[in-house]
Amino acid sequence: MTAVGDISGTTTDRRAVISLLRRLRSPEGQSNPQPVWDRLRALGDVVPAPWGGYLVTGYDACNQVLRGRNWLVPDFAWQERQPNPERWQAPAVEAMSRALFRLNAPTHTCQRRSLGNLFDRNTLDSLAPRIAEHARRIVDELAERIRDGGEADFVTVVGDQLPVLTVGEWLDIPAHHHAHILDFTHRQVHSQELLPTKSELAVSTQATVEMREFFTALIAERRAHPGDDVISDWIRYWDEQLPDDPAAADRTVYDLVMFITIASLETSATLMATAVWFLTRDEDQWQWLRRHPEHVDDAVEEALRYDPPVHINTRIAADDTVLAGTPVAKDQMVHVMYGAAAHDPRRNENPEHFDILRGGSHMTFGGGIHYCLGAALARLEGRTLLTELLNRFVTLRPVSAPVYAPRMVFRRVTSLKVTTDDDPAAPPAPRPVTEDAAGPPAGRCPVHRAQHP
Ligand code: HEM
Repeated sequence: MTAVGDISGTTTDRRAVISLLRRLRSPEGQSNPQPVWDRLRALGDVVPAPWGGYLVTGYDACNQVLRGRNWLVPDFAWQERQPNPERWQAPAVEAMSRALFRLNAPTHTCQRRSLGNLFDRNTLDSLAPRIAEHARRIVDELAERIRDGGEADFVTVVGDQLPVLTVGEWLDIPAHHHAHILDFTHRQVHSQELLPTKSELAVSTQATVEMREFFTALIAERRAHPGDDVISDWIRYWDEQLPDDPAAADRTVYDLVMFITIASLETSATLMATAVWFLTRDEDQWQWLRRHPEHVDDAVEEALRYDPPVHINTRIAADDTVLAGTPVAKDQMVHVMYGAAAHDPRRNENPEHFDILRGGSHMTFGGGIHYCLGAALARLEGRTLLTELLNRFVTLRPVSAPVYAPRMVFRRVTSLKVTTDDDPAAPPAPRPVTEDAAGPPAGRCPVHRAQHP
């Protein structure tokens, strides 16, 4: 295999890490990454990565990197200082290197300030009724498809749809473009893998061309016909900031619209799919949550902790430093492993249990100055969708385990077949309300999960 992604190492430790990372990418590792996270964490809080730099596995060490002033994101200036800058010159990688999450101060500060608090209380309140309408319609469609075919794919009918309907409407992008946006987003994110293969990069490059064409035309159209919408506001803002350089204003608006769209879709879709999987693989959990809708937010939070949609994020050392006892030289890369951190038993007891009432710690939305700008929207979508599903289905069961794309950085569930035992002719049943003395049933551990479907 002539893969850029072939991992080779020299020391014993590195060989152990290589084999663990291969496992993480495999179908087995994708469906249950926890044993790999545990073994990596057992090697240390900071583990040498096979390609240089480090994997950061412990909660406190990850937190320190995300929030510390000593850490930056790997921007263009850093890429140019590397012995092999061509590694970052693929068009798909280059496009993402211009995006907000790969900018350091002062450019990051300027762009982030221009966005403000994207999803403040007023904005969320204005979006909520439409999100609820979309959720109701696609959940109805799910029920209809199950009625007609005995089962339906939650991901294609619901999980992928709610985020694109929400963000598409927020950005005023007509619905007939949504399928195209989803399609190039799924292909573009390969470029964000730690070591994408040549074929992955080729797929990603083609997606980047389509993405550029789409968003460039969208911004040109909005510039020609400005309105009372988010993108027109951003154009006005950047025209004021860069009065002598409209091309630079357009480029900045392009980078923002493109990245925010991409950042919002797969991540939120993965949250929907994993939350539904964790809650339906054990019928008792579903029934408990039906009786306790006041804990829907807690269920979303535990799904975010249990299986973060983004597994890994990268920072570089701004200076020579020491991280959890390991010296890290200036410019060296460290990869923050969100999932491994959230399953660190020193932070979350019995981390392998999916426990709705845990109130656990996670850093699924990152931390520090790059903290996710869409966290509140993603939580609102999760809450709205789960509420709708719990209202609609007395029973909702997976037909088989979810199928995952073989990725290490951006997680993606490609399919989750579900069914119901509800009477298709009966109207949605009201939820029973009881006073349970006990909390929700304990989630199944991975061993049990392998036996249930
Ligand atoms: C469950 C869904 C989501 C997850 C798990 C997620 C996760 C993340 C993570 C891990 C980061 C990087 C933070 C860091 O580097 O410390 C990030 C950044 C970002 N996210 Fe999200 N995200 C989600 C949904 C969204 C949505 C819905 C939007 C917008 C509509 C969005 C917009 C952004 C933006 C703009 C950034 C860059 C922030 C910066 O670098 O300053 N995300 N997200």
